[in-house]
Amino acid sequence: MTDAARFTLIRHPSSGGAVDFARDVHAGLTATPKRLPFPYFYDEEGSRLFEAICGLPEYYLTRAEAEILGRHAGAIVAPLPPSVELVELGSGSATKTRLLLDALLARRPSLRYLPIDISETMLEESARGLLADYPSLQVTAIAAEYRSGLRILQDQPRAEDSARLVLWLGSNVGNFHRPDAARFLAEVRATMALRDRLLLGADLRKERTVLERAYDDAAGVTARFNLNLLARINRELGGHFAVDQFRHLARYDEPAGRIEMYLVSERDQAARIDGLGIDLTFAAGERIHTEDSYKYSQGELAHLAAAAGFTVEDQWMDEAGRFAVSRFAPA
Ligand code: AVI
Repeated sequence: MTDAARFTLIRHPSSGGAVDFARDVHAGLTATPKRLPFPYFYDEEGSRLFEAICGLPEYYLTRAEAEILGRHAGAIVAPLPPSVELVELGSGSATKTRLLLDALLARRPSLRYLPIDISETMLEESARGLLADYPSLQVTAIAAEYRSGLRILQDQPRAEDSARLVLWLGSNVGNFHRPDAARFLAEVRATMALRDRLLLGADLRKERTVLERAYDDAAGVTARFNLNLLARINRELGGHFAVDQFRHLARYDEPAGRIEMYLVSERDQAARIDGLGIDLTFAAGERIHTEDSYKYSQGELAHLAAAAGFTVEDQWMDEAGRFAVSRFAPA
């Protein structure tokens, strides 16, 4: 079979388009305090910068998770029946997914992989690589936000005896407020059968210095990633932000267990956004909140699982104890 015959792309028509961007930027920058929603980091430039972040010496998360999957992929997939479909929420470049594909294909020669991602380009690129390297893989890619992606997934018929392993890796859960993460996981749970499993990768609570360095690296890549939001508004909405007059700030709120990211105005300044017909003013030191990244304790992971209708069936950590991969079973 040709690679093309093993690839299907399903698009959700209205996910994260120009209209949503304009509406959300308008709402966020006219609110007090000002904010911008984190999903808009990931335009082409932002996705490229995020890939670079994943390779930074300070950003241990990606390496720690890959270490866990590399060591324990066999044990992770062991309780699943031989016939499995692999689903991935926010698949991105799908680099770590290969470790699980290898473990699953060692048990049964063929497999369907259903990645869900907002970026169609990312889905096509990652699928191209996977189809070339795994001749028996079938890819059904879903270009959509998580929630619409889940609805499309539910409509996808599966082989009667197959179980689904749903991946939510990369500490993507951390970008949700804790109650929203539980609500979203309950929606994922509602699409799952009792024999299905969820694999959750989450960054763990740890000392402030390690965390703040991971989100404010010496080479300034995370700063560029954050500032790209303003550059994107300039590119796509006719904004007039003086991007170099804002600086990146990442601070750890220890009681809340979250890294908070901001863009801070270096001086009193104004910025017009032609496409939205608005004129904004910023006081020196004023912040735009751009992202939260929650860190979990073991107790918080168990609580998250229970709140969403799961139990923690098994859990693995990297050797340094920085990151956890948990297998959740429907309760
Ligand atoms: C995608 N997400 C899990 C990353 C994180 O760690 O919260 C995004 C990120 N923001 C700054 N660096 C990485």
